[in-house]
Amino acid sequence: MIEKVDVQPIRLGNGVTIEWPIMLAPMAGVTDSVFRGLCRECGCGYATTEFARDRALLMGVPHQVELADVRDDDRPVGVQIFGADPDEMRRAAAHVIERFQPDVLDINMGCPAPKVTNGQGGSSLLRDPARAAAITAAVVAEIAPVPVTVKIRVGWDDEHKSSGVAVDVARRIVDAGAQLVTVHGRTRQQKYEGFACWDTISAVAAAVPVPVVGNGDITTPEDAAHRLRTSGCRGIAVGRGARGRPWVFRQINVFLQGAPPAEVAACEPDIAERIAIGLEHIRRQQARELALLRERPDRASRTELELREEADRRALGAMLPHVMWYVWGVPGVSAVRRALSQAHTATELEALLVQFRERPEKYAPAGDSGAPAQQVTSSPRERVL
Ligand SMILES: Cc1cc2nc3c(=O)[nH]c(=O)nc-3n(C[C@H](O)[C@H](O)[C@H](O)COP(=O)(O)O)c2cc1C
Repeated sequence: MIEKVDVQPIRLGNGVTIEWPIMLAPMAGVTDSVFRGLCRECGCGYATTEFARDRALLMGVPHQVELADVRDDDRPVGVQIFGADPDEMRRAAAHVIERFQPDVLDINMGCPAPKVTNGQGGSSLLRDPARAAAITAAVVAEIAPVPVTVKIRVGWDDEHKSSGVAVDVARRIVDAGAQLVTVHGRTRQQKYEGFACWDTISAVAAAVPVPVVGNGDITTPEDAAHRLRTSGCRGIAVGRGARGRPWVFRQINVFLQGAPPAEVAACEPDIAERIAIGLEHIRRQQARELALLRERPDRASRTELELREEADRRALGAMLPHVMWYVWGVPGVSAVRRALSQAHTATELEALLVQFRERPEKYAPAGDSGAPAQQVTSSPRERVL
């Protein structure tokens, strides 16, 4: 019997409690409300949206507004925003709270993408702790009593990390009113490469009086248990380890509760089950895209058929990376992926997955037993970021 890990609920202000702080880390282009829903069904206890730009929210840019739409999410849920100007961030936060009523507002101070850092947002705020604190204070004051949380990295580069900046920034944003800090253990320079520095995450956890959530390189139940036991963090967030594997949360939960290895192993779905999850994911994505389009004033004159066709194309864009991850490791994976990449709509994607389920031998040349199922790959969006 593995020893149970003691995981305690995190209580934030305004009556918000994260009962099970085993979280999904936000990933742009991956963790939309449909994927968040699948993860929550598998036992993920909390999620925030991927980041939306403050100014774009205020301008009502449809795609950015959709990112902040948590009406279909399990609760509690957070909306993450980014920006560099305290006043703009304050107004965007108020707008999000009024429009979508998330339980928590999360501020991104970790994004490494030049399009974000060049505007002084995301991880560049680590180089301007006074601004990071000012943004936090402005948002906290504006949307009180809704809790504000912040996600940071461990520094801009190695030297910056060694200077203790993560602890400094964390202390300042907590003094400014942040009620929880998530720390991704990489520097901005690392982007998503190399290993996360859990020593620095632990240093932040020891330095601030609010719960700290550790993030970076958690892909297995064992990783989750180890980090919860040794880092001083109150919770953990799983990023790339959940892509194509929403059930990783079930595995983690069973493991943390001290279940025998066979029970943990039984949470790993076989290929047929993975395809079934993929098909359900596509179906929900199509429904979600259609619902969003139906609400858009700029689509008011479209016929139902036109809306359905557009939703189907949009669902393809959202789903393609996911299905590529779902089939990772299946025999004949290269041929399957080649076929899937030819789809023009989500409906075609669905048909190809069904075809693969019915006739796998069509795709599996002798000797191609597929790549290891656990390997973490990068999404097209990630390469852009
Ligand atoms: C494709 C991609 C998009 C991401 N988008 C966001 C984002 O919108 N907001 C955010 O705070 N972090 C974002 N992240 C960072 C993740 O939340 C997480 O911190 C990072 O992937 C490290 O965790 P991991 O090692 O478990 O993947 C993104 C990461 C990836 C790979």
